Amino acid sequence: MTSSLLSIDELGADGVRRILDLADTMAEVNRRPNPKVPALRGKTVCSVFFEDSTRTRLSFETAAKRLSADTMTFAVSQSSLSKGESLKDTIETIAAMGVDAFVIRHGSTGAPWLVEGWTNAAVVNAGDGWHAHPTQALLDVYTVRTSLNRPDGFDGLRVAVVGDIKHSRVARSTTAAFKALGADVTWVAPTTLLPPVVHEHVTDRLDDVIEDVDVLYLLRMQNERMTEALVPNLREYTTRFGLTPERAKRLSPQTLVMHPGPVNRGVELAVDPSELPGAVINQQVTNGISVRMAVLFDCLSANPDPTSDLERPELP
Ligand code: CP
Repeated sequence: MTSSLLSIDELGADGVRRILDLADTMAEVNRRPNPKVPALRGKTVCSVFFEDSTRTRLSFETAAKRLSADTMTFAVSQSSLSKGESLKDTIETIAAMGVDAFVIRHGSTGAPWLVEGWTNAAVVNAGDGWHAHPTQALLDVYTVRTSLNRPDGFDGLRVAVVGDIKHSRVARSTTAAFKALGADVTWVAPTTLLPPVVHEHVTDRLDDVIEDVDVLYLLRMQNERMTEALVPNLREYTTRFGLTPERAKRLSPQTLVMHPGPVNRGVELAVDPSELPGAVINQQVTNGISVRMAVLFDCLSANPDPTSDLERPELP
């Protein structure tokens, strides 16, 4: 049986908890001397990235390999798209080679939903336009769950998501995942960088909330997605919304500092994260492998009990 992962809203709160529980099991696999299991042997996972990526692409490929799936990487710039082949024909052509899951990143909102309509393979959304990035959201909440030892949920947890929310698929998906687990999420942004949707808690004053949050989630300034000047200049942005040395001193040592990456050093993060006791930015990257193993297993495995597939380590 295959199923897709397209958005946190479609996954739902129960689905988020199911993936996080599965990620605990995958994290245990990843702590083994030989972190490889035969759970998805015989399956093929194809990465199709129309936008650049370091973390998402490499961690999906690592996750697939640790589950013993075969991997294919579609290189957009070397493909027949340059000869005018459509996205639909491209997907159907790759699917005809026997693909069980597509991991797709595309600059257009909704592209993964189109792909799902063209193939019987599972489709995992690795980021579409400004819209959704569900596996980033899952690794974010998994990082909070493990760092703060909150396996039962986030009731009472105060999260501030700071920065360019308007252009951020991460902000949308991560907010949805935190809220699904019971957290209170405040958006902190200049009004020009807010999306035209209703959100309960919004402020343009980071200094009003910084001492009271359990999680400070900094977003990347997405210069490549801005078509007009939405902030006067980056220095002004950092003064009002960046994590500066002065603001870092006001943070509780227990406050987790998170960022999806890549970081604009000196803009949203103007301190060395290694000097912040609560920084978990590298932990987010590490957890991305366990979470994406959980997602691929959840989408592709016919076995509702993962432990039987994970007990037997792959022979070297
Ligand atoms: N956070 C994130 O999606 O990073 P990449 O663009 O490097 O995949």
